[in-house]
Amino acid sequence: MDKLVSLAKRRGFVFQSSEIYGGLGSVWDYGPLGVELKKNVKDRWWRAMVHARDDIEGLDAAILMHPKVWEASGHVAGFTDPLVDCKHCKNRFRADDPRIKGTPGQPDAQCPVCGSKGTLTEPRLFNLMFKTFMGPVEDQAAVVYLRPETAQGIYVNYLNVLNSSRQRIPFGIAQIGKAFRNEITPGNFIFRTREFEQMEMQFFVKPGSDVEWFERWRAWRMEWHQALGLAPAKLRFHQHGPSELAHYAKDAFDIQYEFPFGWQEIEGVHNRTDFDLGRHQQYSGKKLEYFDQAANERYLPYIVETSAGADRVTLTLMVDAYREEQVEGETRVVLGFHPAIAPIKAGVFPLVKKDGMPELATEVYHALKRRVPVFYDDSGAIGRRYRRMDEAGTPFCVTIDGESVSGGTVTVRHRDSMNQDRVALDQLEAYLGDHLAG
Ligand code: GAP
Repeated sequence: MDKLVSLAKRRGFVFQSSEIYGGLGSVWDYGPLGVELKKNVKDRWWRAMVHARDDIEGLDAAILMHPKVWEASGHVAGFTDPLVDCKHCKNRFRADDPRIKGTPGQPDAQCPVCGSKGTLTEPRLFNLMFKTFMGPVEDQAAVVYLRPETAQGIYVNYLNVLNSSRQRIPFGIAQIGKAFRNEITPGNFIFRTREFEQMEMQFFVKPGSDVEWFERWRAWRMEWHQALGLAPAKLRFHQHGPSELAHYAKDAFDIQYEFPFGWQEIEGVHNRTDFDLGRHQQYSGKKLEYFDQAANERYLPYIVETSAGADRVTLTLMVDAYREEQVEGETRVVLGFHPAIAPIKAGVFPLVKKDGMPELATEVYHALKRRVPVFYDDSGAIGRRYRRMDEAGTPFCVTIDGESVSGGTVTVRHRDSMNQDRVALDQLEAYLGDHLAG
């Protein structure tokens, strides 16, 4: 992980937020390569979930919502972690922090930071939602929350989408957006952060068909992760046991990836029953039932949710892609991204800065740039330029040499095999198009 974090900074994938001020705890910024990588993840998700299907509509709900939403959802009362404070050093810990010796609140308990005994308080519940105030008066009546999940924006809009899109149940609503959680134990780089992006889809089904739809979505979502090129042996399902199930869930599976710090969730698939719509119906006083004309019956739909973290999937791709190889006595660092998600698709290099090569290379660069993100580099030895592109995960490098100028062909070097093909200039776009598809 340390090597990956350092590569991410060096190459412009991810920077610490407000770094010149010492950083802000577990908040990260995406640099030029990182923003492309994450955008590719989100675009691929949107294509698979919205554009490729007839039964899912897109939505972009606001981050700020009516505070009653979070009472109805159960977040005001239940989105909490038990915490203990050290009265001596003022540090705060989760009550189940394995570093704590003894029982918090008792004289034997020892603070894991300052080592004092008997200074840890009894566990107190701490809500993970960020609060702010709407309007000029900072009092309790003006409190609003930064949403801790995007899902609720979908539930409260479900009838709007249904009535404006002419969908019928079963159908889904998909959304990508920021969520915020005042996590007490954030960490592992962009794995658990306080501000992150979710890619969530809520699928509304007739009660009784929920188990069948749940199984379908579970399988489809695993296929989606596999198609990103992730090592199949590093992906698995983990079913929630009774003690892990969220208050809204009848059944839940995590899709997990084996990170250097262990197997961890990258996406959750939940059977949320009619809990959410039932609660919003109760708290808002508005009927949220669906009328099935064909069967002439009314019911509150059940919801199957698929909820993935865009940042977590991005981290997974970087971890999965990172490798070091020994090539001619040197260490070659490669991010072996699937070409479809690589931030830069091709490097374009003149072999030397003379004999018409830079001019032709610039022409090739501009022609390719109209179609895909490409990078022009004419500085340093060609081997160094290849290595820089390997570290950025760029799948192809196009080199313009003497033969390009005289014979109209270029070399295309493949990142993973390091093999080179000679390709006619007028075939280059088609050649790259074929190899980038997927
Ligand atoms: N709407 C359901 C929900 O939010 P969740 O399991 O709490 O369920 C879903 O979160 C996904 O959101 C996780 O699988 C993870 O990918 C991402 N996620 C949750 N908390 C996160 C955090 N603090 N930092 C980054 N990603 C997070």
